[in-house]
Amino acid sequence: MCGIIGGICRNNITPILIDGLKKLEYRGYDSAGIIVLTKNNKFNRSRSVGKINNLEQKIKNKKTTFESKIGIAHNRWATHGEPSNRNAHPHICNNVISVVHNGIIENFAKLKAKQKKKGYKFTSDTDTEVIVHEIHEYLQSEKNLVKAVQKAVKNFEGSYGIGVISNQYPNQVVAVKNNSPLIIGIGKDGNFIASDQMALINVTKKFIYLKDGDIANIGIDSISIFDKNCNPIKRQTKISKLKSGQISLGNYKHYMQKEIFEQPQAIQDTLESRITKKSVLASAFGYQAEKIFSKIKHIQIIACGTSYNAGLVAKYWLEGIAKISTNVEVASEYRYRNPIIFDDTLFIFISQSGETADTLAAIKTVKKLDKKIYTLSICNCAESSLTRESKLTFLTHAGPEIGVASTKAFTTQLASLALLTVVIGKCHNKISKQQEAKIVDGLNKLPGLISKTLKQEEQIKQLAKTFKNKFNAIFIGRGSMHAIAMEGALKLKEISYIHAEAYPAGELKHGPIALIDKDTPVIAIAPKNDLLDKLKSNLQEVKSRGSKMIVFEDEKSQITKMQNMTIIPTTTNLGVITAPIIFTIPLQLLSYHVALIKKTNVDQPRNLAKSVTVE
Ligand code: G6P
Repeated sequence: MCGIIGGICRNNITPILIDGLKKLEYRGYDSAGIIVLTKNNKFNRSRSVGKINNLEQKIKNKKTTFESKIGIAHNRWATHGEPSNRNAHPHICNNVISVVHNGIIENFAKLKAKQKKKGYKFTSDTDTEVIVHEIHEYLQSEKNLVKAVQKAVKNFEGSYGIGVISNQYPNQVVAVKNNSPLIIGIGKDGNFIASDQMALINVTKKFIYLKDGDIANIGIDSISIFDKNCNPIKRQTKISKLKSGQISLGNYKHYMQKEIFEQPQAIQDTLESRITKKSVLASAFGYQAEKIFSKIKHIQIIACGTSYNAGLVAKYWLEGIAKISTNVEVASEYRYRNPIIFDDTLFIFISQSGETADTLAAIKTVKKLDKKIYTLSICNCAESSLTRESKLTFLTHAGPEIGVASTKAFTTQLASLALLTVVIGKCHNKISKQQEAKIVDGLNKLPGLISKTLKQEEQIKQLAKTFKNKFNAIFIGRGSMHAIAMEGALKLKEISYIHAEAYPAGELKHGPIALIDKDTPVIAIAPKNDLLDKLKSNLQEVKSRGSKMIVFEDEKSQITKMQNMTIIPTTTNLGVITAPIIFTIPLQLLSYHVALIKKTNVDQPRNLAKSVTVE
């Protein structure tokens, strides 16, 4: 993870770098640092543990000036070496070169041993420091910063987005991308690099999206891009649709809260132009989609975190409605095993960011197979590495999601997967026109239904108070609601640090029931469906163990109130597609309000990052 930013411009670059770091804080927030070149070409560096505000304050308190036209900066999510000033980037070698890095240099130990023998001194425990020494070494013979960087990166194994400056070359910033995101921002008064466009949206809307292996040489008025052998190459300039207001908090206290309440609009935007009143447009998945979907015999979904949970829900729909065998697996496992893969498999990669390292590695792995397979990514970021790797792409139009705990990305992924289920079902003649019309009707009602469910916030806020002294919780559901229970448990543990587990309700008796006592609340999701009576029996089992129960039910489920049970009628009469989406909402609100009570950092929970671009 980590976020990097840098650039060279006619004005003072420091406020631009600090503002960009704040926008990149979702990528890591355990320490941060900045380095600029002063007027007499001396490095001026400041590093600080904790949030960007600490760094900003430190710079203000420094006697030396940070006014400069060139600089690079970084916020860190620690991999090698604890969060500390000495491990914070930028790193410097011999007062000549400085580097910021997002990614991991996997062969750093070997390089470090070699560099130590050559007399290089290490001042941190990071893998990154080998980058700066390696470039320094090549600079001695090459006398050209781009060439030195190009030679050095040939020795690196792993992933890297790197920004480099040197006081011997004070008019250029050099950047390299390999398996970590990196973009160039083209401004009126200078040019910039960053891990994503959000960091630069206050400066420019013109971006170049670098590809793996690209090396860029950036001056105030010039940008040259080279391939890994230093041959000049051209990359397209694109205009971003992102608006700076989209990433401000407005009247909300936290991004997570804002994003929960944006869901009606996010769903509406995701469905727009993709459905009519009665049907789903197959072309929404690309002009070749129908042809491809008609050929497929299996589906393999691959994703991480919340996106994986969306995949688990989709399995119920794709098998139950479109009647096509579907497997779901977390990317970090899939990429390293030797799965049996059949011809005519559609691989679906789900990712909010499109930059998750494990998901990207998985798509690259399957593309190399000598098999007749197809790839589709469902992603929230149009210009991400994932969308560039896949044959078919379907964009969720959730808008920027800043809160580390994913909310609107999840529900828009579900809406997208619902559309996919219908289109695949139609391609295989498994869905009738009436069935399609019923599903589409439910989807069209979603924004209104979500708005209605959001009105339960006050009730859920009161309920959240009962979690004040709780350290464990169990979520249960049956069928696709097990996947929603998993998402509910993930949200609660991510932001309130309560140990939360989710189980298929019928599985409780095979072990987890031993955990249940009066201090372990059980949260159940009870839509009105064929499994409701089974769930009611499971609730009886829980009641007998004295646990406090919270049940989010369909009004028609009519769960009989028992001692220690709070029933929240959440919705009424939903179909198999709409129910999981609607029942997600109260669980998001619950975890948000429990986090407020636990006084955690809701948008930037400890140890987590929004976009995990390292293994
Ligand atoms: C991180 C985030 C999660 C997210 C997961 C997958 O762990 O903290 O919220 O679900 O990455 O991210 P992606 O961008 O691939 O959906």
